[in-house]
This record gives sequence, C-alpha cells and structure tokens, in this order.
Amino acid sequence: MSANPDAFQEALEATLPILQSMTKNLRPKPKATRTSLENLKASLPSSFEKPIETAGDRHKTPQPVIPITSDKDDGRLGKLEILKKSILTCTRCPHLVASRTQVVYGVGNPYAELLFVGEAPGEEEDLRGEPFIGKAGQLLTKIIGAMEYTRDDIFIANILKCRPDMPDRESGNRKPKPAEMATCLPWLTQQIELIKPKVIVALGLTAVEGLLGEPCTMRDIRGKWLDYHGVPLMPTYHPAYLLRNQTLAEKRKVWEDMLLVLEKLGRPISAKQQGYFLEKA
Ligand code: URA
Repeated sequence: MSANPDAFQEALEATLPILQSMTKNLRPKPKATRTSLENLKASLPSSFEKPIETAGDRHKTPQPVIPITSDKDDGRLGKLEILKKSILTCTRCPHLVASRTQVVYGVGNPYAELLFVGEAPGEEEDLRGEPFIGKAGQLLTKIIGAMEYTRDDIFIANILKCRPDMPDRESGNRKPKPAEMATCLPWLTQQIELIKPKVIVALGLTAVEGLLGEPCTMRDIRGKWLDYHGVPLMPTYHPAYLLRNQTLAEKRKVWEDMLLVLEKLGRPISAKQQGYFLEKA
C-alpha cells in the first residue's frame, strides 16, 4: 500500500468532528465512532502509527514537566498501546456499549507522577473521547495549572470508561453503579500498574468508593492520605462540587489537598501558591 500515513491520519482527524456533529444532531445516530476509527487505525501497518491528537496536544506550550520520551521507555509505551486497544473495544457492559459514542481511555503523560481519577465521562467527554473537557474539566485544568502542571504532564482517567447510559432521559448524567465500577476497575488498575504514578488524586466520593470498593463519607476522608495498592491516594472534592459551591472556604479545602499532593511529590511550593483561596485578613 503506498498511501501517505500523514494524509491518512489527517483524513481520520477531519472525519472525526463531522461524525461527532452528526452523532449530536442526527437521529438515528451514525454507526461510526472513535472506537471504529481506532480499530481502523489499529489495522494499519505499524509505520502508520501516530498518536491521535487530543485537545491537550493542541496546546503544547509550555512543554511537559515530565517529557514523553522514548529513550527512557521501559516497555510501558507498547504495553499501554496494547492495553488502550483492549479498553477502546471493551464490551463488558452491553448496556453501556449500546449507549456510548466511544470509550474514554484517559489522557496525559504515560510517565505521569500524578494521576487524577474522576467518576465517568459526561456527554462532552463521550462525544470527544477525552476525560474532563466540560465545565468541571475546565476547572480541573485550572487546578492543574495552579499546581504548575499542564494536562500533558499528568494523567487523567475515570473509574468508569463509558458514559453511564440514560435510558429514561436524553440529557444529564447519572452516577455509575457499583457493579459497573467493579467491572471497569481492572482497566484503571492496569493503567496505574503501567504508568506507576507516585500519587493518585480521587475526585469525589464516587471515585474513592470505586477505587476502594467500599462505601465512605467525604467528611471522614477528604484531605487524608489513603492507600491504593501502595500508591498514596488523596481524596478531594469533585470539581463539579466546587462549581456548585463556589465559596472561598470550599475552594481552599481542595487547594489544601493539592498542597499536600505537591508536598508528597517534592514539588516546590511558592508563597503565592501557599496563599491561594485564603480569606483576606
Ligand atoms: N466528570 C468526571 O468525573 N469525569 C469526566 O471525565 C468528566 C466529568
């Protein structure tokens, strides 16, 4: 085959937004999804492999704190690629397969020292195939920026990789069910085993319960170090909660959790960072 790989990739990329817009606006929905595009790409010879550009990639300045370099590859990039293909074609929850546009694998640096775990993709994430890009995601991106990271430095994933189905209504989100989370968790566990983050931040109670597999209360655990298979786990509020409760005091609680995270990672913390969201005297 003498096709130009870049031209092929460009064609795939140009097709995706059109399909997404059709998916949003047309009934019945078209059948092609990012998953089918991924499958198509996976069937190409390896010389055609080029990562699909994401929103994170498109804002590449500044450069990642932890470069994504192949010279330090310990074999994880290939393993993650294989894992990604399995995740993107997962059919373990038939009801979610039927309702999803695509599986949302996660985004970020395969060498990330910091992993954020959310609950499940919402409508926008399901359409675009990237976690945390809606309003809550934009707030998360600001928190990441305040920590002096970019989305390319860290990794972001969800407990559930498919958008929870909404059989009775067209819009909104529902909480993932414990059985759905338990079914999906092995995918995240494998991502964690390969990425080897030094710290995990669980965003919201559902993320904590999904990871630990047991009920908790945010009042008891927020801001306190837990453990996920040997990795320090910091539970904090979900950014969607902060959007609903925009007081300085609630913002400061999340920020203090992030200061603990930065401290655990041995990152420098400026006086300015120390003072974010403090009540003015
Ligand atoms: N909320 C989540 O928990 N995850 C997302 O990806 C988006 C919103």
